[in-house]
Amino acid sequence: MADDRDLLIQLQPDAVLFVGDLSDGDFKLVKAIQQLPLPVAVILGNHDRGRDQTGEILSRQLKLLGERHCGWGLRQWRSPHVAVVGARPCSSGGGFYLSSAVEANFGPMSVNDSADRIVEAAMKAPAQWPLVVLAHSGPTGLGSDMQSPCGRDWKAPAIDWGDQDLAIALDRIRKHRVPQLVVFGHMHHELKRGQGCRQTFVQDRFGTVFLNAACVPRRGLDPSGRELCHLSWVEFVDGQLSAASHRWFLPDASVAYEQTLFQSSKSTVMPC
Ligand SMILES: [Fe+2]
Repeated sequence: MADDRDLLIQLQPDAVLFVGDLSDGDFKLVKAIQQLPLPVAVILGNHDRGRDQTGEILSRQLKLLGERHCGWGLRQWRSPHVAVVGARPCSSGGGFYLSSAVEANFGPMSVNDSADRIVEAAMKAPAQWPLVVLAHSGPTGLGSDMQSPCGRDWKAPAIDWGDQDLAIALDRIRKHRVPQLVVFGHMHHELKRGQGCRQTFVQDRFGTVFLNAACVPRRGLDPSGRELCHLSWVEFVDGQLSAASHRWFLPDASVAYEQTLFQSSKSTVMPC
């Protein structure tokens, strides 16, 4: 994380969004995020609860992150204006499953209860600000091929492995406003057994962009032996998404490689 911290401090983004699966229940990265001197929003992933069924590990991480964790909640910043709504924390995809660790911390709930909580958080966001939804797993509805942003690739048949509660919530939020961006992780870009790569970017007919940021591992070497760090990168202009890309940075914060996913005419800054 020291290298990630140095890189982020050099880049000085307007905000940093963490899509979860920080570790298998280790607190090191959570503590590093706590000390990151940048606006941060976090959604914890299914791995973050560790193998603990009691919810104690999750509880300690939630306490360390405090308001930085936005599961079923809202984070917002004024400079520049952006509202981040968190979906269900610790999701493992596949429709809807509430783990015992999550239930121990947040209480029992149905798929509709979870959707209600996401919608409620979104309704608190200032209406004119860009609305970003931060989730560990993406919603259902983005395709059922293994290459789809949330397509199951580890077991046949390939099916849509997205979250139902998030899809229900997005439908309901859309009756009031259109989120500019839904960003998530969980489903690795590289498919199992050398079956190729996943589609990581979709824009729906309402204009919402869905971005899968789960490049795993995020750190590696290029063919010349240079150290690379992956960040998914989005920029907004006048409240609208203006650019999205996957970027691989060198330690000096220069961009070694970039896969452009979306580009309008202008730009600003938010790695995920
Ligand atoms: Fe995950």
